[in-house]
Amino acid sequence: MMWLTLLYSCTGGAAVLYALYRWVIPSIVQYHAGLTLIWYETIVQRMLNTLTQSTQPQRILGAVQKNATRGDPRSVVKAIDQYCRNKEWAMNVGDEKGCILDSVVSEVNPSTVLELGTYCGYSTVRIASLLPPNAKLFTLEFNPHNAVIARQVIAWAGVEDKVQLIEGASGDWIPKMKEHYGVKTFDLVFLDHWKDRYLPDTKLLEECGLLRKGSVLLADNVIFPGAPEYLEYIRGNQRYESCFFKSHLEYTKALDGLEKSVFLG
Ligand SMILES: C[S@@+](CC[C@H](N)C(=O)[O-])C[C@H]1O[C@@H](n2cnc3c(N)ncnc32)[C@H](O)[C@@H]1O
Repeated sequence: MMWLTLLYSCTGGAAVLYALYRWVIPSIVQYHAGLTLIWYETIVQRMLNTLTQSTQPQRILGAVQKNATRGDPRSVVKAIDQYCRNKEWAMNVGDEKGCILDSVVSEVNPSTVLELGTYCGYSTVRIASLLPPNAKLFTLEFNPHNAVIARQVIAWAGVEDKVQLIEGASGDWIPKMKEHYGVKTFDLVFLDHWKDRYLPDTKLLEECGLLRKGSVLLADNVIFPGAPEYLEYIRGNQRYESCFFKSHLEYTKALDGLEKSVFLG
């Protein structure tokens, strides 16, 4: 009888813990960006890393290999979104802001794109799949482990011909883009790396003559984690025409958005 009571208590306790982990806490933290990061990045991700002896990028690649069709970029995007909505939050631009990104890419119809911050290649695949023939997307990632995974995600999506993944820091590579890759100017720049680099890298792009009249800068996460110095610079600058797209932090209901800024020359 005592053993039976103990068994019931253990099973009941485990069920409560699972419900908290799987539904209760996620449904609460999704309304608060800071709590989302604390819960997923410092608790869930570390726990999964230990339990599965893998990294988040490896798990995202696994979800792609399991659920996406080779050569079908949209299925790759869908597989990552499903994984990150249902299993574990990740810092991809995500499905909701991804639609805004798609519409800007389609509107600009760029020949040359620069993406700052590749992570696992989610936004890279989104952008590359919408590019016209002969267009090129340069994507910069300074974390070698992320770069290794991103190459495989990009190859799985079948967009590797359109993508040049450069491993290194934005501050080092932006000044070398003309000489090393023969880039004249970028039609579109997607800023999605560490937020304290948005402003210095924008100034670097200007100094290096990599922006032309009409070049579009699209900056993610301008509300959360936020890039106040960048916003102040870009919004108060007569050389840019800027507008804000209100949205939500990836895979949550917390406020975030993208800032689109056209360089006026
Ligand atoms: C928010 S994630 C990028 C997400 C990706 N754009 C997407 O939506 O799928 C930011 C990435 O930028 C990289 N990163 C941060 N600062 C960087 C820098 N200065 N140069 C190159 N990569 C950087 C980080 O290692 C990280 O993988």
